[in-house]
Amino acid sequence: MRVLVIGSGGREHALCWKLRQSPLLTDLFCAPGNPGIGAVADLVPIEIENVPQLAEFAGEMNIDLTVVGPEMPLTLGLADEFAARGLAVFGPRRQAAELEGSKVFAKQFMERHGIPTAPFVVAHDAEDAWNAVLDLGLPVVLKADGLAAGKGVVIPRDEEELSKALAVFFEERRFGDAGARVVVEKFLEGEEVSFIGLSDGERVLPMASSKDYKRIGEGDTGPNTGGMGAHSPAGVLGSEDAAWVLEHVMRRTVAGLAAENRPFAGVLYAGLILTPEGPRVLEFNVRFGDPETQPLMLRLEDDLLPVLAEAAAGQFTTQRLRFRQEAAACVVLASAPYPERPVTGEPIVGLEAAAACEGAEIFHAGTATRDGRVVTAGGRVLNVCAVGSGLREALRRAYAAAAELDWPAKRLRGDIGRRLLESLLPPA
Ligand code: GLY
Repeated sequence: MRVLVIGSGGREHALCWKLRQSPLLTDLFCAPGNPGIGAVADLVPIEIENVPQLAEFAGEMNIDLTVVGPEMPLTLGLADEFAARGLAVFGPRRQAAELEGSKVFAKQFMERHGIPTAPFVVAHDAEDAWNAVLDLGLPVVLKADGLAAGKGVVIPRDEEELSKALAVFFEERRFGDAGARVVVEKFLEGEEVSFIGLSDGERVLPMASSKDYKRIGEGDTGPNTGGMGAHSPAGVLGSEDAAWVLEHVMRRTVAGLAAENRPFAGVLYAGLILTPEGPRVLEFNVRFGDPETQPLMLRLEDDLLPVLAEAAAGQFTTQRLRFRQEAAACVVLASAPYPERPVTGEPIVGLEAAAACEGAEIFHAGTATRDGRVVTAGGRVLNVCAVGSGLREALRRAYAAAAELDWPAKRLRGDIGRRLLESLLPPA
């Protein structure tokens, strides 16, 4: 099969790395990709928003399956455009992608279908938001309705912070139209976990559990980022809760979308919080998680390609996905000052030494090639991943590989998985 992957991050590198191992694969292309992906796929210089040109390429190159990494092209209707041209694509159509593209749609959808989530109000201006806070009480979670690259979420803890946050949304209009409506949601306490499944429009095949670390600072402090690390298993989701989520969140969502004439084929990713009252959905994504996909691909035993092709055709024959018993971890190396204004263009030292570390796999994200050297080219630069017999070993190996890599603005969190290992898993 000839496959095109769309995207340029660590997630897409991990997907290409896994797809490359498929005996069904003949040719692999990635648009636009990055230097790491270039080692396993042919890079195509088309940007992810350029849907017509991507479709042209897929048609002219007789691509059998296109796999979409990021949400943006899905919300722009890439799957609709490809389907109209008779091209197979793994990823939901625009109407189903609303589940991620609009937080207001997602919350109202969950309300309509009895999917457990935090109480909320939709605010159109600051006055609506203040009134919502009177009902919900502080702290609250404020979420821009539209896509904001993970930066449209604020958690004001007192009235002063609330006032500042509302000025950002409604006066400064930092998120433009994406922030014209704001979901004001009750703040829930608990452990966060990612639940990712593949759907063919009817069934859901769950992946192994995973957990990501969104804040920039150790101890989960500072602003949200695209994700500073992840591991699988999550270590906090019991099998009973997992079965409950599969039934009451994942299958109910796919059935609800089908009932609303928005059939969903692709990746359904529920960001959950485990409260004393049970799991609650914080958000839905309609694509693979980044960086959760990196450890998940290291653990996936099955060939990914036929499963994605079956989902794209709307017909799973695969009954379940199998994952290795071993754990996998991912530590993100960023360039400071991330997430604000990362320094770029710095040569990266130690790529070979890191890749040679036991159990390690290095997935590129914000990298570029300059004068034959790999240099930094974005906020999140590398995903240093490793497998191990358990989470403790996987994390130790990932950090050992991360220590081999260097550039002046390198920044990482040193505590991925640490609290979990200290509180839940006794020392080995
Ligand atoms: N890891 C968070 C995300 O993919 O949105």
